[in-house]
Amino acid sequence: MLPKAGHLLVFILVCLPLLSSQSTAIDAKSHEWWQDAVFYEIYPRSFADSNGDGIGDVKGINSKLDYLKQLGVDAIWITPCFPSPQVDFGYDVSDYENIDPMYGTLADFRDLEKNARKHGIRIVLDLVVNHTSDQHKWFIDSRSSRTAAKRDWYVWRDGKDAGDPPNNWISVFGGSAWTFDSATGQYYYHYFYPQQPDLNWRNPAVHDAMVNVSRWWYKRGVAGFRLDAVDTLFEDPQLHDNPVLPGVNKFGDPNEEDKYNTKLPEVHEVLRDLRKVADESGAVLIGETWTKDTAELKQYYGEHSNELQMPMDLMFTKLKFSAPIFRQHIAAVDASGGWPVYVISNHDIVRSYNRYGDGLHNDAIAKVMASLYLTLRGTAIMYYGEELGMENNDPVRKEDVKDPIGRLGWPIEKGRDGERTPMQWNDGPNAGFTGGTPWLPVPASHKTHNVENEVKDPASILNVYRRVLSLRHTNPALRDGNYIALNESDPNVLSYLRTCENQAVLVVLNMSAQPQQVSFDLAPQGFVSRSAHTLMTTMSRKTAEAGLAQMALEPFAVYIGSIPR
Ligand code: NOJ
Ligand code: CA
Repeated sequence: MLPKAGHLLVFILVCLPLLSSQSTAIDAKSHEWWQDAVFYEIYPRSFADSNGDGIGDVKGINSKLDYLKQLGVDAIWITPCFPSPQVDFGYDVSDYENIDPMYGTLADFRDLEKNARKHGIRIVLDLVVNHTSDQHKWFIDSRSSRTAAKRDWYVWRDGKDAGDPPNNWISVFGGSAWTFDSATGQYYYHYFYPQQPDLNWRNPAVHDAMVNVSRWWYKRGVAGFRLDAVDTLFEDPQLHDNPVLPGVNKFGDPNEEDKYNTKLPEVHEVLRDLRKVADESGAVLIGETWTKDTAELKQYYGEHSNELQMPMDLMFTKLKFSAPIFRQHIAAVDASGGWPVYVISNHDIVRSYNRYGDGLHNDAIAKVMASLYLTLRGTAIMYYGEELGMENNDPVRKEDVKDPIGRLGWPIEKGRDGERTPMQWNDGPNAGFTGGTPWLPVPASHKTHNVENEVKDPASILNVYRRVLSLRHTNPALRDGNYIALNESDPNVLSYLRTCENQAVLVVLNMSAQPQQVSFDLAPQGFVSRSAHTLMTTMSRKTAEAGLAQMALEPFAVYIGSIPR
């Protein structure tokens, strides 16, 4: 909606340049490209298979750029597609400067990068900084003898007593975090699988090698990295035992507080160094940051905003679907001073469709969640298929499990296969993902929740995503405006304003299964209008204007409207 004539000049000066700034690095609000961008995580094994081997690949991604552009995606984060024995499906890298043949070649990547650039889509890769594969040539050398050139590139220690590991640290993937290597009679440390030995970041040679890997990819047009497992880069050199907590975890190991092997302060120095190199290329660093509160999250931006530009707010994925809970969390993150980074799904967490869904209204709830996190102040990172309402397809038999933690922790821990199933392109065989046998089975829901069907249905989850993303890209208040919480004591309806100079957008989300009545007085925010102009709604009753004094909301309704000053 355009402003009144009196405000036209301000609008032109302040807001209009934003409309055309999508491809520029810095917009009129001094936002950098990644602040205005919508990111989309692609799990390459599962996105699109170009050669019928049942495994997605780089050419497959390349063939879907039109879809991503139409959806409203500005950058894709591709999880590891480098050479790897695939014990942890790519998070065990054996060569950081190549593409795994199962995904294609460096030439395929070059083609993808060129084509993505043409589409105005940037590429972010996954840098696995904490560990390598045990098949990486660095580790092969390291384990070859106690005096090997790269011995100190990993964390090697003598056992405590005969047969006992150096301390009580537990791997997050089950069992001791130490594996004995009989060839040299010492233990090596691995926070994840034994096939993922931790690098020794206290060794300057490791530091330089990894920084150089980032440079290598920037030269090939990569626009940034998602840094894997940054919390675990450093360990206490004294190897103090971690405090033991009551009970056992899903693998039957004693619960522990990871006091001496996670979130050590030394990590910030590394982040500053990686950031300096990223800044040389205008690149972005996104962090896999499992923080417990906003104070911890804040530390990852760096004291002088010189560490991660985008530490992920993964706390968001733990919240219950409830208006007061989201309101409280959003307020805390918005006020924390850093640029918020919202995520509702990824390849390690049960899909948002199941997590927030109540089993009866999952489609409607998926639309509410999309409208929520895509209209907040901050950058959003989507997970492939979330825009279709893809659901988890967990294995039902242990022998079908591909993810090793699912086999080890069965049946309490079923692993992460369920959230990694093939993208649902159509309702045909294997959801149109592959002409062969897919590496993971597609759920029955592909018959209804797929791209081909949903494109045609104006009320589909996909079309809600498309409309909200299009608004986000074109409406200055939604893109750059402040966040102002409204009706803060409402237990069911989450409402807020996004304001940019003389414009405001009102977002109203009924997070309950009952109809609700809401009323807004926006005079304290400087808006005297008594009605909103509808930009988008999921309600069956669609009106061009909605009265603010009394707004009737259907169950799980989304209403987004602009408010003239
Ligand atoms: C986090 C990744 O997201 C996960 O998939 C992986 O297993 C671990 N880091 C280890 O790299
Ligand atoms: Ca393939």
